[in-house]
Amino acid sequence: MSRKDDYKKKIEAELEKVQAKLAEWKAGAKSSAADARVKYAKQVDELEQKLEVTKAKLKELGEAGEDAWEQFKDGVENAWDSLSAGFRGMRHPSADDKDTGHSPTDPVSSPHVLPPLPYAESALAPIISAKTIGFHFGKHHKGYVDNLNKLIAGTEYSDLSLEKIIRLTAGRVERTAIFNNAAQAWNHMFYWKSMKPKGGGDPPSPLKERMEISFGSVDACKKEIADAAVSRFGSGWAWLVLDGAALKVVNTANADVPLTTGMKPLLVVDVWEHAYYLDYQNRRADYVNAVIDKLINWDFALENAG
Ligand code: FE2
Repeated sequence: MSRKDDYKKKIEAELEKVQAKLAEWKAGAKSSAADARVKYAKQVDELEQKLEVTKAKLKELGEAGEDAWEQFKDGVENAWDSLSAGFRGMRHPSADDKDTGHSPTDPVSSPHVLPPLPYAESALAPIISAKTIGFHFGKHHKGYVDNLNKLIAGTEYSDLSLEKIIRLTAGRVERTAIFNNAAQAWNHMFYWKSMKPKGGGDPPSPLKERMEISFGSVDACKKEIADAAVSRFGSGWAWLVLDGAALKVVNTANADVPLTTGMKPLLVVDVWEHAYYLDYQNRRADYVNAVIDKLINWDFALENAG
């Protein structure tokens, strides 16, 4: 076997191990401590970038002639080393990290990191396609986190949690850009958790009882959520919230979030066009009803209701 083939084989084996580890970690991350999730999300992000670099190098190597091997050898060797090191450094977050009391929906990190999706990009198909999730999570949600980090670098907000930034900047015209990006980063994190594969169906009994008290029936509550989502003019969000002791449905425009008006969000449906246009075009109601019937995560809502 030539050195080129030898390295290629080693790197491909390493790629497989790292990808398996990433998949295992992502599946387990949902139940881990909030701080551990944030920490490991960053690590997964870095490792994924290394994977991309290594894949590119392998492709380059495959296309190059045997005589170009010397030119690529060092680069490939370095990529392999960093990949192996990254793989060895991976630990499951629940193994030895303790929850420090921060809410899972209120991560503190500087800079802020994009938390991993709680499921695979394809897990919500066919209701929401992998393509939609890929763009929505990988471009839109990531964009809000990246923009926020740029906007708060070196400011008094740089070490604050998303919720704190949102509360401190809400309604302040000179802080609109920071508020919008912080709120969108938070809203999307909350949105991914508001859905799950094989969701929908009957809410757990304690939530069902509260729905019946506040809305008369589960169906009436679902209808209110759908109406709030469909009637939101332009971009925004439809929320099930706790307002005092009562459940309520509200919608918000653009990046606005009920956290700033004293209500406690329980779950949310994103009705920005980027959430559904690739799959449903202008049929927002079809998207909303499908999400409520097939994906909504009532357990998450109950968890938030406390
Ligand atoms: Fe969105």
